[in-house]
Amino acid sequence: MKGIILAGGSGSRLQPITNSISKQLVPVYDKPMVYYPLATLMQAGVREILVISAPSALPLFTELLGDGRRLGLELSYLPQEEPRGIAEALVLGERHLGGAPAALALGDNVFHGSTLQEHLWAGRERLDGCVLFGSPVSDPHRYGIAEVDGSGNLLSLEEKPPAPKSDLAVTGLYLYDGNASEVARNVRPSPRGELEITDVNAAYLEEKRSSIITLPPGISWADTGTPESLLSTSQYVYSLEKQERTRVACIEEIALRMGFIDSGACYNLGAEMQHSAYGQYVMNFAELWDDS
Ligand code: G1P
Repeated sequence: MKGIILAGGSGSRLQPITNSISKQLVPVYDKPMVYYPLATLMQAGVREILVISAPSALPLFTELLGDGRRLGLELSYLPQEEPRGIAEALVLGERHLGGAPAALALGDNVFHGSTLQEHLWAGRERLDGCVLFGSPVSDPHRYGIAEVDGSGNLLSLEEKPPAPKSDLAVTGLYLYDGNASEVARNVRPSPRGELEITDVNAAYLEEKRSSIITLPPGISWADTGTPESLLSTSQYVYSLEKQERTRVACIEEIALRMGFIDSGACYNLGAEMQHSAYGQYVMNFAELWDDS
């Protein structure tokens, strides 16, 4: 399975913060936003990842993450000339995917929870068509919304419905079979002029090849695209890291846990940031890790 992080969009809901910087480079507490979707893909075991972003922001993402080799990853980059919608990422990423199954992660989506990895792997295992991840929300008109029956089977999908049929939001992590680029190429722009990811998912649903995993209460999810959610997610990460003496979306730790790098490499990555609490955490974690 190959990955795509879409770090595009205009970030207009975060202006003026995003007047000169890409939304996905803005910090969520102690690390850039893009670390969170990257951590999610890494936990799903995905190592070949394409980062798609506005042309002006690409040099900054490249400076931040490089070619990924230091984390045991293969990262590549592509511009999205205009924010033409999430589904365009699957079209732009066609060559990168090369017909492989895909995990598409939105650059502003934060997932966390001790059983997250289990659910990601369950999604990979059941993948036949497309697998979505749902999370209940209090403001369903803001999201893609899934209607499910009593057994959890997906019945319908709607993008930002004025009269939502449920409160189950479709989160910004999507797993697809090898046909995603082709399906996305057949999607037409919505009334707001975007290629909607919900239309891709609905096309799979029409063929009865779309399913949804509802994330349990222990797994939190946030879309950090507004000032309020940016703050509340930062506060959440801060509290958790302080209380549990852990780090959320620490990509160096995850690379070590997943066996992408060894403890020596992890320690060195931490040492490069040794003046920050984050760097110290990475060094300590690597020191305590037993490679055998
Ligand atoms: C996008 C999708 C929506 C999804 C949401 C998750 O919305 O269109 O279906 O629920 O991401 O973050 P956007 O945040 O681009 O408005």
